[in-house]
Amino acid sequence: MRKKIVAGNWKMNKTFDDAYELVEKIADEMEHLATPSVDVVVCPPYPFLEMCGDLSQESFFAVGAQDVSAHESGAYTGEVAAPMLASMGIDYCIVGHSERRAYHNESNEEIADKVKQLLANDIRPIFCCGEKLPEREAGTQFKVVEKQISESLFGLTADEFGDVVIAYEPVWAIGTGKTATPQQAQEMHAFIRSLIAKQYGSHVADNATLLYGGSCNAKNAKELFANPDVDGGLIGGASLKADDFLTIVQSF
Ligand code: 13P
Repeated sequence: MRKKIVAGNWKMNKTFDDAYELVEKIADEMEHLATPSVDVVVCPPYPFLEMCGDLSQESFFAVGAQDVSAHESGAYTGEVAAPMLASMGIDYCIVGHSERRAYHNESNEEIADKVKQLLANDIRPIFCCGEKLPEREAGTQFKVVEKQISESLFGLTADEFGDVVIAYEPVWAIGTGKTATPQQAQEMHAFIRSLIAKQYGSHVADNATLLYGGSCNAKNAKELFANPDVDGGLIGGASLKADDFLTIVQSF
């Protein structure tokens, strides 16, 4: 059975004290939750990774980074390399988020390099894909997502691909309060699974964890997660409040 995952992408929010308070609350509550079938991942900004890692030790959640360098080491001021994350015990890392693609011009090729860096260091990539509003209005959303996935991921072996989590995040739904309908999410997730099946076979496709992201919150998570091909969520705004995030974790 494939893994169900709820991951919180804090983006560039919180100061150290606020972050501590949030993750401490998540850690406390997680101890009492009966959700052994769901992997919970907290993805804070880099400076808070160690603190979140410490607080996760006794608890039942994993820690992820929000981005990684495409390079292994060297003169890349301001960047953080996969071996550094691995040396801190980081389990997951988001790559190819639409905000990185938009504000840092990340290409599918660069994202492919980041994925390779992570896999070489035993960190599971949470690979983001998704179309912009004009692309959906033009009916090209499937083509767009297929290009993102095939150019960044389909150079991997089946074995390597088995460690990748895909997050479908329609850009028009991110931070807008305009969630994809459960039907829109299911339709795209089924399409993504069919792409994986074509590339790697149905066994790999059946085991792939596909998350939905984009204005997923405590109210709509249940309806989204009820779809057969939606295996959890990548949560932005609603992951900044412990109660909301934990409600989403329990929405299966
Ligand atoms: P929101 O949940 O705030 O729409 O953000 C989604 C997202 O971008 C998660 O990576």
